[in-house]
Amino acid sequence: MKALVVYDCETSTKCTEQVAKTIADGLKAKIGDVVCQPISDCKLSSLKDYDCIVIGSPTIYRQPTRAVTSLFEQLQQMKLLGMMNPGGKASAAFGTLSPNWSWQGGNSAQVIEAKMKELNLNVMVPAFAAKVNLKGDYDYSLAEGEIAKAQTFASDLANALAGKPSAAK
Ligand SMILES: Cc1cc2nc3c(=O)[nH]c(=O)nc-3n(C[C@H](O)[C@H](O)[C@H](O)COP(=O)(O)O)c2cc1C
Repeated sequence: MKALVVYDCETSTKCTEQVAKTIADGLKAKIGDVVCQPISDCKLSSLKDYDCIVIGSPTIYRQPTRAVTSLFEQLQQMKLLGMMNPGGKASAAFGTLSPNWSWQGGNSAQVIEAKMKELNLNVMVPAFAAKVNLKGDYDYSLAEGEIAKAQTFASDLANALAGKPSAAK
């Protein structure tokens, strides 16, 4: 079983990276072979090598980042062209959002999960959105307890993947 955790960040505090690394560590402890990388390092052609794809993004103006949205656009295009069919591959979505932006709302993790379902990916566990708090100007940090929730998300995903045959394609 090989899993890929791909994430993007918007701000220099990199809260989404912290969540991604926590999830990757949790998966490593249970399923072993896990790669965690920023989306800028992720090659579309490499996705077929993984049994499970986990994708995360901060919520920026109610949406995932441009890079994450673009990844899904490219996957849809490759699917339409018959160049790749990720259908059935195990997946899960995560993200970060801030109660300080509650007037905007939005939840990138849920948007990513919906895009996964459009591609017929096999979403194994419900999307996880970690909350971040704004302390000063642009000083975001993960709210208390969110790392523990990310660990639980990883553990639930690993359990869901347990016993699942290799689906790399
Ligand atoms: C320009 C900008 C727009 C944002 N828009 C939203 C939003 O619409 N909804 C929300 O809940 N949080 C919003 N946030 C808060 C981010 O989701 C939060 O800071 C996130 O954790 C940043 O992740 P990062 O540290 O990995 O870049 C926004 C933050 C910035 C800087």
